[in-house]
Amino acid sequence: MRWLRRSWAGLLYQRHQQHHRRFLLTTNRESDGEREQQQHYKWSSPGSRAEQVLYAGFWAGGLTLGFYWLTNRNHNVLLEEQVSDEEEQEALARLWHMTLREELPTYKNDVVEQHNCPEKGIWVTYGLGVYDVTDFVENHPGGDKILMAAGSAIDPFWAIYQQHNTLEVLELLEGFRIGNLEGELVPSVDDELGSPWSQEPQRHALLKPASKRPFNAEPPIGLLAEQFYTPNDLFYVRNHLPVPVISPEDYELEIEGGEKKKTLSLEGIKDLPKYSVTAAIMCGGNRRSEMTKVKAVKGLSWGAGAVGNAKWSGARLCDVLKQLGVQPDETKHVIFEGADLDPTSHPYGASIPLAKALDPRGDVILAYEMNDEPLSRDHGYPIRVIVPGTVGARNVKWLTRIVVADRESDSHWQQNDYKGFSPSTDWDTVDFSKSDAIQAMPVTSAICTPQPGSRVKIDDDEGHIAVRGYAWSGGGRKIVRVDLSNDEGLSWHVAELEQEDIPDGRHYGWSLWTARLPVSEAQRKAGDVEIWAKAVDSAYNVQPEKFEHIWNLRGVLANAYHKVKVKIV
Ligand code: MTE
Repeated sequence: MRWLRRSWAGLLYQRHQQHHRRFLLTTNRESDGEREQQQHYKWSSPGSRAEQVLYAGFWAGGLTLGFYWLTNRNHNVLLEEQVSDEEEQEALARLWHMTLREELPTYKNDVVEQHNCPEKGIWVTYGLGVYDVTDFVENHPGGDKILMAAGSAIDPFWAIYQQHNTLEVLELLEGFRIGNLEGELVPSVDDELGSPWSQEPQRHALLKPASKRPFNAEPPIGLLAEQFYTPNDLFYVRNHLPVPVISPEDYELEIEGGEKKKTLSLEGIKDLPKYSVTAAIMCGGNRRSEMTKVKAVKGLSWGAGAVGNAKWSGARLCDVLKQLGVQPDETKHVIFEGADLDPTSHPYGASIPLAKALDPRGDVILAYEMNDEPLSRDHGYPIRVIVPGTVGARNVKWLTRIVVADRESDSHWQQNDYKGFSPSTDWDTVDFSKSDAIQAMPVTSAICTPQPGSRVKIDDDEGHIAVRGYAWSGGGRKIVRVDLSNDEGLSWHVAELEQEDIPDGRHYGWSLWTARLPVSEAQRKAGDVEIWAKAVDSAYNVQPEKFEHIWNLRGVLANAYHKVKVKIV
C-alpha cells in the first residue's frame, strides 16, 4: 500500500475511495441520516476540469491494468510484479469489491434480491460487486450462514466474520463476480408522492420485517450473538410511525426544567462533554412469538431478536438538567417527545423517573452516535435518548422535547401500552391505569445457535454440542450465570460468559455466552434434544420456567426459559 499512497495513483485512489464511500453510504447505509436527496446519486464525475482529467486518467490506467489482469490467466502475476509483500497484495485485493468492472453487467438491488435460494441462484453484493455464490455455498461448511445473506449485501457479515477478511477469501470471492451493483436506491416501500411513508430509509435486506409500515424488523437470531456490539445495519428496528426527516441544521431540542427553559442545537449538544455507554436496548415485546403460543396476545410477533447491544455516545442528560437548575425530587418524571407524529399530530412520547435522569450512574445520554457512527435515521437521527437498563420504549428517538413534570407522559405508549398484567387479566377486565409502566426490564436470555429445528453435529469425541446466546437484565444488574439443560431441568451446565468489566448496578450491556452441552447416548439415538437456557442476574433474579405463569394480554416481558429443540446428526 505504501507505493500506492506515495504516488499520483495513490492520490487518485483516495479520491476514488471518497467517491465510492459516499456512494456506499447512500446506497447501503443511510448512516448520516441526511434526507434522501442523494438517493439518485449515480456515477457522477468529480468536480473540476483538472480533477476530471486526472480521474479519467485514473480510470483509463485502471482499465488497462484491469484488462491486462483479466486477460492474464493467472490473476496474481500482475500483483506479484508490482507489489513485493503480502500486505501490499492484500491492500490491492481490498480494492476489488470497490471497483467497477466495466466488462460486467450492472444489476439493480431488486434483481439481486430475487436470487436468494439455490433454485434461483444465490447472489450477494459486497461493495460495488455482485457475486453468484451458488456453487460456493454448496461446497462450503458455513453455507447456512452465507444463505442468510442470499439476495443482499454481505458487508455487515464481513464485519462479523473477520476471519474471512483475508487475501485468499477476497480472491476467491472476486472469482464469483458476475456484475456491478447499480448505484440507484431501490426504496424499501412504495414511495408514491405525498405518502407519509415516502421518505423511509433504506434497510438491510437481512432485517426480517414483523411489519413494513411502520417498519419493525429483527435480524436473524443466528447472527445476533456473533458479535458483542451489534452491527448498526442489523440492529432491530421498532417504529410506531413513519420515520421523520430532520435536517441537522434545523434540529432543535427544547428542554423545560420547571421555571427554566432552554433550546439546544445539534452542535450545542455536541459541544457538551461526550460520554459513551455500552447498553443493550430490548423491546418490551421481545420473544412475544413464544408467549402467544400459550394463548393469543396482541402485538407484533417478535422472535428473540428484538434486542441489540451498542456503544452509545453523546451528552449526559444529568449535566443538561443540572445546568437548568433541576433539583432531585423522587416524585417527578422526565417526559420525552419524538419528532414522529401520529395522524392527530401527537408525537411519540414516554417518560422515566427524574431520579434515573439525574443519577450520574444512571448513564442517561442524549446520543448522537451508535457504535462510533452517527445515528442512522431508523435509530433516531440526529438525537435519541438512551436510558440504559430500561425497556426500549423509553429510549425515545428523534428527540425534540424534554419536560421535567409532576406526572408521567400522557402518551398512549406510557399509559396504555408497555405495561404488565396478571395472566388472569384479559381484554374484558383490563384497566391500564391500575398497572405501572414498565421501566427496568427483568432478567432474560436466549439461545441464538443452534436454531430451532436445525440439524446439529456432535462436535467432539465426548459428545458435546456448541450452544451460544445472549443474556441481559435491566436496571444495571449484571448477569452472574447462565445455566443450560439438556434433560428438562434435571441437570444444569454453566455457560461461559463474555461481558464488559463494569461494576454491578451500572452494567447495562448484554452478556454473550457459550457452552459445550453434553448429549447422551440415548438422545443421540433418539435423534433430538431440547436445550433449555436460563440466566441469573446479580440480584439472583432468575427467569421463570413457563410462559403460562407470566402470560399477559400485550405479550410483554416474555422472559421464560428459552427452549430450543434441535435434531442431532
Ligand atoms: N421513539 C420514537 N420517537 N418513536 C418510536 O416509535 N419506538 C420505541 C423506542 N423509541 C419509538 C421510539 C421502542 S418501542 C423501542 S423498542 C425502541 O425505540 C427501538 O429502538 P430501535 O428502533 O433503535 O431499535
